[in-house]
Amino acid sequence: MGRIIIRGGNRLKGTIRVGGSKNAALPILGASLLCPGVTVIGDVPRLRDVDVMISLLEYLGARVSRNGHTLHIDGSNVRPLDVSEELMRRMRASNLVLGPLLSRFGRVCISYPGGCDIGSRPMDQHLKAIRKLGADIVEQRGFIRSTSKGLVGRDIQFDVPSVGATENTMMAAVLAKGTTVIRNAAREPEISDLATFLNGMGAMVSGAGSSVIRITGVSEMSPVEHVVIPDRIEAGTHMIAAAVTGGDLSIINVVPEHVEAIIAKLQECGVDVTETENSVRVVAGGELLGGDVKTMPYPGFPTDMQPQFVALCALARGTSIITETIFENRFKHVPELRRMGADIRIEDRTAIVRGVPALSGTHVATSDLRAGAALVLAGLAAENTTVVESPEHIDRGYEDLEHKYRSVGADIHREL
Ligand code: UD1
Repeated sequence: MGRIIIRGGNRLKGTIRVGGSKNAALPILGASLLCPGVTVIGDVPRLRDVDVMISLLEYLGARVSRNGHTLHIDGSNVRPLDVSEELMRRMRASNLVLGPLLSRFGRVCISYPGGCDIGSRPMDQHLKAIRKLGADIVEQRGFIRSTSKGLVGRDIQFDVPSVGATENTMMAAVLAKGTTVIRNAAREPEISDLATFLNGMGAMVSGAGSSVIRITGVSEMSPVEHVVIPDRIEAGTHMIAAAVTGGDLSIINVVPEHVEAIIAKLQECGVDVTETENSVRVVAGGELLGGDVKTMPYPGFPTDMQPQFVALCALARGTSIITETIFENRFKHVPELRRMGADIRIEDRTAIVRGVPALSGTHVATSDLRAGAALVLAGLAAENTTVVESPEHIDRGYEDLEHKYRSVGADIHREL
């Protein structure tokens, strides 16, 4: 597993290309199970979570080949086998096979994902939706077993705009009889990308990106070629890397609209951000100012950027109040940042961050993906050497992060 060693203090300068979105790729890989034939998906990031999803597709009988960032997935021999606890434990997003398998085969069985490092993450909204579409569900000994003799389109009202539940419901509804309406749907760009993919396969999905999505069932789907959208969280992480190192980064392969909430916050913090059609340039150098943030579903400030923003506020003038409204246990980076000299207090779901003039490198441990990213950012800005242990968490969501940062001037490498 190794560790990442960072000698902080270098100003990052240059250009970084953002890869395809992990959170768009995962449901799209799940949706490739919807039909026989070969689907081609481009700009799929090479990440541990994607590898887990590929293993799951292969376990279910799909034939997957990879050429660089392009995947060919042949869904001809897929069968609805039970998905073991072992596979579900490796990645919660494995639950994204629920909708497609139920839709295509009328049968699915997955292990219950249970809790994870950042919170309890229930599946009640996923199950409520597929039950409403007419599926029977039995929850037994940690497994969710669902069967249907033909799903039927219905009106579904979510209590919370869950990304995964919206995606699973869309994938379940594409082959249902009649029209499904999802209200209070999640509006994340990854939902829109999934809709584009499904429509390419012959589905009839409209309204994705808004809080009301309509899906009119079709009788069959066919393979498609698709390129995944850029990863807005990777882009946001690089934007903060520029900010905390007083750097000047051009970040390319970005849809600026997808990162507006992050751009706005950085500007409030005194950072200069300019946009082109598919890039953002972040120039920092003056004093960073603290800012308050409340995480919200899209288009609000993403919970997946909260840890990185806490790292920035740790170095910004004044006191910042960061409130996490999506996940109840997402401040695991805070004790580690404190070890680096940050002044942060947690009160319930709020972090009160009093900026300090400098952080100081030490050994820090990574507990989850974005917490790990926050520690790397802190390390890039810190004095002395930071050693980030357990970088395998970071590999779940960032492809070759050290190489990207080295190419823009960071002193960072991995020791195996
Ligand atoms: C997705 C993202 C994850 C991101 C999260 C929120 C993927 C693969 N992962 O996760 O990176 O942090 O969105 O933007 O896309 N909830 C329920 N009942 C449910 C489902 C969810 O109460 O049945 C709650 C959760 O506890 C949480 C909120 O809804 O408080 C949002 O979760 P959800 O949008 O479902 O997150 P994921 O899809 O798991």
